[in-house]
Amino acid sequence: MNTDSTLHIEKVTSTRVGEVDFDNLVFGKTFTDHMFECEYKNGAWQRPTIKPYGPMLVYPGMKVFHYGQAVFEGMKAYKDENDDVFLFRPEQNLERINKSSKRMAIPEFPKEIFLEALNELVRLDKDWIQKGDGNSLYIRPFAIATEVGVSASPSKEYKFMILLSPVQAYYKGFVKVLIAEKYSRSADGGVGAAKAAGNYGAQFYPTSLAQEKGFQQIIWTDSNEHKYLEEAGTMNVFFRINDTLITAPTSDRILDGITRKSILDLAKHNGVNVDVRKLTVSELIAAAEDGSLKEIFGAGTAAVVSFISHFGFKDKIYELKEQSDSFAVMFKKQLNDIQYNISEDPFGWRKKVELF
Ligand SMILES: Cc1ncc(COP(=O)(O)O)c(C=O)c1O
Repeated sequence: MNTDSTLHIEKVTSTRVGEVDFDNLVFGKTFTDHMFECEYKNGAWQRPTIKPYGPMLVYPGMKVFHYGQAVFEGMKAYKDENDDVFLFRPEQNLERINKSSKRMAIPEFPKEIFLEALNELVRLDKDWIQKGDGNSLYIRPFAIATEVGVSASPSKEYKFMILLSPVQAYYKGFVKVLIAEKYSRSADGGVGAAKAAGNYGAQFYPTSLAQEKGFQQIIWTDSNEHKYLEEAGTMNVFFRINDTLITAPTSDRILDGITRKSILDLAKHNGVNVDVRKLTVSELIAAAEDGSLKEIFGAGTAAVVSFISHFGFKDKIYELKEQSDSFAVMFKKQLNDIQYNISEDPFGWRKKVELF
């Protein structure tokens, strides 16, 4: 039983917002005045609390440090020209973190508390959100196993937290990607479809090898044969061959991205021919060679749409020409316009934060 689910709020005595250089933010380094925290113990989520952002007490024996029992989310809030603030499909992130939690044997977090806490936290720290293209508030919900004990079994205690970080545009310019031939980020029956912390730690080494070769990201292929194209770094990936938009179907190995599903809806809305199917590396190379490959782009909350200018495979680099009728540019603009309350939102994706 939950003992007390009333949101408790402890405000800062003075804000740090005046100390921030908003024109020179490093992604994810600056945190706002407040954070959300809720503990799980005795089989129930305890009192949800918003308090000043700051260090917390941890013990070296906590299970999160030994078994990586941790999940997270990434979402954003946007400010429009009238200082109204909007979240983009926040209930999707809650659903996904609960799906990730289930896979990692972490108890699910209650929807009503999550949405109330999110609204309240963003409301309190609304002055940290800058207006204008690319500016937003990155929101990082996460859950960690806090029970002390190094037996390899699920923790009986957890913390669910939400941090807020003001950000500017994530990737600037075009990205070069390398198609994976050796390493994998996920496998059948594994945790690729979950935002489990360890998935990301495991990508750092292969990505650093790709970076040494001059690429920014890896296009992950299936772990069985390295034959099918699956994701680009921490983004879903789309290919445009002639005028058809192709992306891999979601599976155990692929994260069900919210940007991906929004782009699929936008594509249908725009009358773009969509093919959700497995695309092989050899089909991609053939399309690059015969000129039918027009675009590749990544899709994810951080960058929204990330333009890919080159891809590498087996020591060969393929270049993509800029398209005057780019799908990537069109989807990025349409998504941005919905997120920043510039255009109508026929899909009902935008959720206004109650500021007063
Ligand atoms: C592995 C992976 N794929 C795809 C995405 C894109 O998902 P979303 O559009 O929900 O941010 C993410 C997260 O941002 C991710 O970590």
